[in-house]
Amino acid sequence: MIEPVDPALVPRQLIGQTGDSIPAIGLGTFGSDHITAAQIATAVSDAIQVGYRHIDCAAVYGNEAEIGQVLNEAQTRGVARDELWVTSKVWNDRHHEVEASCEASLRDLQLDHLDLFLVHWPFPNHHDPGVSVEARHADAQPYVHERYMETWAQMERLVDRGLVRHIGTSNMTVPKLELVLRDATIAPAANEMELHPHFQQPDLFDTVTQAGIVPIGYSPLGSPARPERDRTDEDSAPLDDPIITDIAKAHGVHPATIAIRWAVQRGQIPIPFSTTQRNYHSNLLASIGPVLSSDEMASITAADRDCRLIKGQVFLWREGQDWQDLWDPNGIIPT
Ligand SMILES: NC(=O)c1ccc[n+]([C@@H]2O[C@H](COP(=O)([O-])OP(=O)(O)OC[C@H]3O[C@@H](n4cnc5c(N)ncnc54)[C@H](OP(=O)(O)O)[C@@H]3O)[C@@H](O)[C@H]2O)c1
Repeated sequence: MIEPVDPALVPRQLIGQTGDSIPAIGLGTFGSDHITAAQIATAVSDAIQVGYRHIDCAAVYGNEAEIGQVLNEAQTRGVARDELWVTSKVWNDRHHEVEASCEASLRDLQLDHLDLFLVHWPFPNHHDPGVSVEARHADAQPYVHERYMETWAQMERLVDRGLVRHIGTSNMTVPKLELVLRDATIAPAANEMELHPHFQQPDLFDTVTQAGIVPIGYSPLGSPARPERDRTDEDSAPLDDPIITDIAKAHGVHPATIAIRWAVQRGQIPIPFSTTQRNYHSNLLASIGPVLSSDEMASITAADRDCRLIKGQVFLWREGQDWQDLWDPNGIIPT
């Protein structure tokens, strides 16, 4: 029997806008196209009993109804709604109907409000679950700032209506985020971005934190079970990096513990996915310790390889493009 972690021991980050605070680690719920909704809901239920209070959901993960059932049961068991932090996201094909998308997520999650609602990707595109890396949608679109701000205005209305406590962005770049910060009435409270020791995004991280935005780090372990379409020969595995494995050995822990603890100490909120109890329990414990020394933190900083794993190829909008075009090479947003 595993010893639950007291949620009061898990660090939190303050959100300046509202004075709320967000648990410094969350549980991811994207099954990478091969873990079923039922398996993930079972893990969410047990993870809450183990001590998680922050769950990262999204409509496109196709499991919000199953997760809603277990969130409801957790509250019946005595976990108060305001102890839970639940995030959801509007998918790319619903940028023009954000309010309806949020209302559907609320119904599925059996909640009357979300703690955080994100624009999942800044492209109004769609791809079906499980498609190959070459798949392109006929109506694929580039980032058009005016159109994004129309989507953002709908996000702001959700705050005004009390349906969401905070709104945020995801999969942004420095140039896109600067435009949003310039034009938003309600600034993003959080930005969800790929962050692990081999992809630290220092420029975006600094832009986000200097704007008072909370960085939420996805794929914090290097997403070892990510879909086939997100794999290339150049990809590296942060948990196999000798810098990480040596620090793990020195502390007598798994390399995943070091990746999580580094994230929390750096100031981003990791949201590792797991349906294996031993793993999600040790990930939660990693948010508390072991404390990494400044030398250990510096050597992990030096381990960055600028290796983006979740490239987003399926969102490209023109023939002959490279996935880098999604991420504004040289600071320019391609049209
Ligand atoms: N905003 C976005 O566009 C976006 C994109 C990607 C992901 N996300 C979010 O981020 C979450 C996490 O990212 P991810 O799922 O790509 O990757 P990840 O969390 O880096 O990796 C998950 C994988 O690591 C394994 N794992 C977990 N803990 C472990 C441990 N302590 N020791 C060894 N292996 C461990 C899991 O297997 P077990 O199940 O066996 O533990 C699973 O296969 C997603 O679920 C989703 O919520 C958001």
